[in-house]
Amino acid sequence: MRTETPQPIRLSDYRPPAFLIDEVALAFDLAPNTTRVKARLSVRRNGAHADPLKLNGERLKLISVAVDGRALAEAEREVDAEFLTVPGVPDAFVLETEVEIDPENNKALEGLYMSGGRFCTQCEAEGFRKITYWPDRPDVLSRFTVRIEADKAFPHLLSNGNLIEKGELSGGRHYAVWNDPFPKPCYLFALVAGALDVLEDKLVTMSGRTVDLRIYVDPGMAPRAAYAMDALKRSMKWDEEAFGREYDLDLFMIVAVRDFNFGAMENKGLNIFNSSLLLADPATATDMDYERIESVVAHEYFHNWTGDRITCRDWFQLCLKEGLTVFRDQSFSADMRGHAVQRIKDVKALRARQFAEDQGPLAHPVRPSSYLKIDNFYTATIYEKGSEVIRMLKTLIGPEAFRAGMDLYFERWDGHATTVEEFIKCFAEASGRDLSDFFGWYEQAGTPRLSLSSAYDVARRTLEVEIAQETPPTPGQPTKTALPIPVRLGLLDQDGRTQAFLRDGEALDETVVVLSEAKTTVRLEGVDRPPVVSALRGFSAPVVMTTDAQPKDRYVLLAGDPDLFNRWEAGQELARELILARAAGQPDEVGEERFAEAMGRALSDQAADPAFKALLLAMPSEPDLALARQPADPAALHEAREALRLRLAVHLAEDLKRLHSGLQESGEFSPDAASAGRRALRNAALELLAANPKAETAELALGHYRAAGNMTDAMGGLAALMLIGGPEYEAALEDFYAKWKAEPLVVDKWFAVQARDPDETALGRVMGLTAHPAFDPKNPNRLRALVSTFANFNPVRFHDPSGAGYRFLADQILAVDRYNPMTAARLVDPLGGWRRYAPALGQLMKAELERILASEGLSKNVFELVTRALG
Ligand code: ARG
Ligand code: ZN
Repeated sequence: MRTETPQPIRLSDYRPPAFLIDEVALAFDLAPNTTRVKARLSVRRNGAHADPLKLNGERLKLISVAVDGRALAEAEREVDAEFLTVPGVPDAFVLETEVEIDPENNKALEGLYMSGGRFCTQCEAEGFRKITYWPDRPDVLSRFTVRIEADKAFPHLLSNGNLIEKGELSGGRHYAVWNDPFPKPCYLFALVAGALDVLEDKLVTMSGRTVDLRIYVDPGMAPRAAYAMDALKRSMKWDEEAFGREYDLDLFMIVAVRDFNFGAMENKGLNIFNSSLLLADPATATDMDYERIESVVAHEYFHNWTGDRITCRDWFQLCLKEGLTVFRDQSFSADMRGHAVQRIKDVKALRARQFAEDQGPLAHPVRPSSYLKIDNFYTATIYEKGSEVIRMLKTLIGPEAFRAGMDLYFERWDGHATTVEEFIKCFAEASGRDLSDFFGWYEQAGTPRLSLSSAYDVARRTLEVEIAQETPPTPGQPTKTALPIPVRLGLLDQDGRTQAFLRDGEALDETVVVLSEAKTTVRLEGVDRPPVVSALRGFSAPVVMTTDAQPKDRYVLLAGDPDLFNRWEAGQELARELILARAAGQPDEVGEERFAEAMGRALSDQAADPAFKALLLAMPSEPDLALARQPADPAALHEAREALRLRLAVHLAEDLKRLHSGLQESGEFSPDAASAGRRALRNAALELLAANPKAETAELALGHYRAAGNMTDAMGGLAALMLIGGPEYEAALEDFYAKWKAEPLVVDKWFAVQARDPDETALGRVMGLTAHPAFDPKNPNRLRALVSTFANFNPVRFHDPSGAGYRFLADQILAVDRYNPMTAARLVDPLGGWRRYAPALGQLMKAELERILASEGLSKNVFELVTRALG
């Protein structure tokens, strides 16, 4: 147990920085265990006050401090584990410090550390203080000049901005000097040094400037950066077209590293990526990898404007850059890969991660108001719900006013650190609308529940639609207010044809109803035929909606809603109800048959996009189902879901087999969306067939695995074999490992597929794998492949009634917390939902949280999450 309770940081305590730093010169003398960092800061007092200069600094060995060239005696400064304090400083002065750090032993992967024999950095959110003494907060913007000196065994010496000088030194050493002309907060600082291969390209911007593009990767891997390079160029062009944003430096660099706590980081001019989100070729990466690479490359690039040029005043404003940038990358992906399919995937992810978070003890607003460790707030709520909020804003004010608001935001705040209020103000001004109610979306946690009912008056040909909203309480927010919620809706008739209607005298095919009160009613006129309501089209708001629709209405939508999101949603709703009924011991066999028939018709629709059909075929995930009815019984849900899948597999066997053989591809692999969609459908067909574990299916899956000409199909085959189990699976696993053991990213997949295995033996297997020579818990990718995959994507085995799954996770959290608190904290989440499960399980989950909390020397990161989870 911790001896003192850490004190939270509060938004309401925000004060502008006491000192500003206009310029800084850093000099790194790199050595794995003894790196020296000299910093020369031009400091200026901000406002009239007599405060001492107080700089953050952690795990730094202080060598010297000087003010205006005069070295300070020990009595003239104060140093503790977190700060360097210098009292009585002038209003403007030069501060020089020198510190020593140990990158090699930095296994927290925050600050300056080593990965694969190279130096690299991760500073967001508060890692810069592990490099040098600094006011480590995002509202101190400075121009950085960085000199890097190292042994020539580290051939590439990189930092932000432009290379202004480089040269040779005696003793086998060399140096490089970088200057970044754009003032930036320290969390955007980056440094990389080591042996790397580079893939180079160029891009001419909209104003005709040529930008050099370089992607640095492990030696030998440059060909695998080709897709990322292509995605980068498309992102740069897209940002010019969609938002009028041009790149600003002459050079843009990306570096891939193997040991990385997160996905990627938008350091100015020098993005650093987890190699899993950068490297791809057909043999080692799946279509899903390609898709994620495209979206993350775009995300980090888009941050150059939404994050770097305009940054956050404080970390409570994190969604200002993250929610907005996710919105931008989702819009980009939709343009690249198709709007409906992209939207469905984004909503699936939102529901799986954000809705779960919002229903549990870790629920927090898109803009939180207090934290212990900001690293714990890089959540689905900040990112994904943050993006949904912007999407709604665009729906509410329309695309033109939205674009005008963005233009105003860029113009007004370029070069500054700002707040969500100021961001919203730009849209209020651009649209001439009062958006004060809208701000509730940022301050109120929880997922609003909508209930929609409609009444059709045949004689008057009117339809009255009533929509009520209510947001359940969340920790610290017992009562909630109504929010402005855009509900996009249209009408079909019983035959599935679109029917037009009149709203306020205007003839429409579709309309957006904006809820503003607890209850909103709209009257649609000229509704000639009995209608089927298609509401919340495109998932126009991040809410849970229940309606008075009957299964027959859902079948109409599933067959013919022109809104593809709602067509998919109707299928999911039908499936969800059938699975929940079965899990509750009341299987609706007739309903299941009817559903199987409807799915068969949907599959035979020649006009439908294969990628869309693949999504249609995938039944709601077990975590998704666990949210729908509480307390959740993971074992019953798993069984019920498998039973429905089996029925589909049997009923649709011929169609699925035909799809499977018909979509077999010959010729060269292409990662484009259409080809990926065909592979997705073929693999989805196989996955569904695998619900019927006959010898014939195992043979089909093994054949699929063996014939695979790319990783997408190899994984499709392996995953299907995993579901079937037996000797074919074991043989394939062995074959896969033997083939790929030298490829870390592929070995991650090998661990992950075993972690997802719903078979009874899986927990034992997963525990055994922690002793496998290839299991390295210091590498976050490897750790997550096994441990997070198991805890998040294998509910039936994680929630083993013995509690062994929980104990396993808690042991991992405690072990990892010793050296990597951020990554340990990210593992807490699956235990956080303990209240949503049957008490027998919930109490066991809670007991593990309590055991973690009682452990000696817990990090602030894990302490905060476990305390909130228990709270
Ligand atoms: N800003 C990075 C991004 O684009 C993520 C940084 C994650 N840092 C953290 N402490 N969780 O999404
Ligand atoms: Zn981001």
